[in-house]
Amino acid sequence: MRVIKTIKQMQRLAASLRRGGKTIGFVPTMGALHEGHLSLIRAARKACDIVAVSIFVNPTQFGPAEDYTIYPRDSKRDATLCRNAGVDILFCPSVEEMYPADFQTFVQVEKLSQGLCGPHRLGHFRGVATVVLKLLQTVQPHQAFFGQKDYQQSRIIQQMVQDLALSIRVRILPTVRETDGLAMSSRNIHLNREERQAATVIYRTLKLGEELIRQGERTSHVIRKKMLELIRHASLVRLDYLAIVAPKNLQEIREITGPILIAIAAWIGKTRLIDNLRLDSESKEGRRP
Ligand code: PAJ
Repeated sequence: MRVIKTIKQMQRLAASLRRGGKTIGFVPTMGALHEGHLSLIRAARKACDIVAVSIFVNPTQFGPAEDYTIYPRDSKRDATLCRNAGVDILFCPSVEEMYPADFQTFVQVEKLSQGLCGPHRLGHFRGVATVVLKLLQTVQPHQAFFGQKDYQQSRIIQQMVQDLALSIRVRILPTVRETDGLAMSSRNIHLNREERQAATVIYRTLKLGEELIRQGERTSHVIRKKMLELIRHASLVRLDYLAIVAPKNLQEIREITGPILIAIAAWIGKTRLIDNLRLDSESKEGRRP
């Protein structure tokens, strides 16, 4: 595995691999790797000749009061996990490399950034889109792999790639969960024992929504109300939002007639967690008896 720290070196390597006819699969991360990241790496391994992973805790996607300084960092462990997973290239630039002193260009994916996490994390998706575009320009992949766990982020990147005509295939892969359903996240490490237990209510609430839809309920506010009853009464949990939206444009849906995304963001103590379920439910009319 080659460890690369500068943009120039990475671009040179990518260009020579592409000239040699190799396909490059890319998994951007902020490190503190877990099974969720590894599932993306495995998918890239299957789909492409060369697998590149980036580890960069991106300061521009954290608000001033957010957890940039305490975000978990363990570069040795991450490098070992990457090596064992068959990663060919590990790109880990410094903050100065990605954001030199006169840096001043940002990318904003307008509509998709407005709902869900948008209002709760001002500037977050601007930072994400900007760093991902710069990483894509640096690694020059044929395919890039993202997790459904961060569904809004994945959609924003898909849209950016489409709008800016990048010739990269964006792949969105399923959320990897702990055995009790909690979505794997680098931030789970911050949860103490009671918080870790309390955090399971997020997935249980999503599953309640799924069950109500399975039973035939199609009115969003009825589903939301029942889900809110469950999550609002849970201890140690403070809800940011619980939304039922269209997976494509992330706009709220009143009556469920097609695919939906149920998304939750909640604070468990001082840790903010997000999760979602994508359901391809049919309309009442379309439903078979
Ligand atoms: P990070 O949180 O490290 O996540 C890197 C990638 O792993 C993202 O595509 C994310 O959706 C995916 N991922 C995280 N948890 C997952 C899980 N439980 N199952 C499946 N995939 C999971 O997301 C970021 O970093 C950053 O915003 C980044 C895109 C790297 C830009 O800085």
